[in-house]
Amino acid sequence: MAAEDRLGIDPSVPNVARMYDYWLGGVHNFAADRQAAEEILAAVPEARASAAANRAFVRRVVRFLAADAGISQFIDIGAGLPTQGNVHEVAQEVNPVARVVYADYDPVVVAHGRALLMGNPSAASILGDVRRPEEILANPELRSLADLSQPVALLLTGVLHFIDDADADGAYSIVRRLTASLSPGSYLAVSHGCAEGMNTEPTSEPGNPVANAVFRRSTVAHALWSRSRAEVSRFFVGCELLAPGVVWVPEWRPESGGDVTNPGRSHFLGALGRLP
Ligand SMILES: C[S@@+](CC[C@H](N)C(=O)[O-])C[C@H]1O[C@@H](n2cnc3c(N)ncnc32)[C@H](O)[C@@H]1O
Repeated sequence: MAAEDRLGIDPSVPNVARMYDYWLGGVHNFAADRQAAEEILAAVPEARASAAANRAFVRRVVRFLAADAGISQFIDIGAGLPTQGNVHEVAQEVNPVARVVYADYDPVVVAHGRALLMGNPSAASILGDVRRPEEILANPELRSLADLSQPVALLLTGVLHFIDDADADGAYSIVRRLTASLSPGSYLAVSHGCAEGMNTEPTSEPGNPVANAVFRRSTVAHALWSRSRAEVSRFFVGCELLAPGVVWVPEWRPESGGDVTNPGRSHFLGALGRLP
């Protein structure tokens, strides 16, 4: 079954956005999501901490962009269910007029996003599949909030590992097509699953085999496509990579007192680049 056919609100199909919500301690999940998330936890016990480390990375990146880089427009694709410290909350805390467009291909995610954003004229949640980047950027709601002739921050966090290189339009082409439409001085933030150092037998596909089996019967309908540090760096070809480069997410500009012990156990690499 194609991923699109599994989306929507069928509560018997584990939904990756709701599984992630469960790991983050959220309440927008059903029994099938919790069971699938627990199966992964049994194989990868650090999955919960890993989701939290990824969210903390997103918050630090957005705060840096809004506070230090002067960015006031954000496009967050593969946004996920609303959670604590959403992008618009972090950005608008720094700059109350910051504009944020969330996009996700999951109608449940978009519905929750719309409910949360009701009454916030500077943020929107739109339906869009990252594999069709031009459609997302042409979306009238996005265009009414984001002026692409000015720098924006494009956030692709925790989503590109759901695009495998077997797709006709591989993840690299998607990122190139998105960034090609952005103005100079825009930023690209990526976080990405990486199985490096994971305690599993080598298999023909990257990642953890138990987790991949769960993802195959979930809404994404295929394995989580782990990429190496070099492969994640490739998303930033043509960008100026900001220090500290492509690192485990806890290592990306940790706040004072931030825990960076065993950063590789986050299983997420992250980086921020600037378009020249
Ligand atoms: C793990 S969540 C990441 C949420 C958030 N970006 C973060 O980093 O915390 C992954 C999200 O990507 C979305 N997603 C997966 N494939 C997608 C696609 N082809 N187009 C748009 N969104 C997608 C899922 O629906 C889910 O909400």
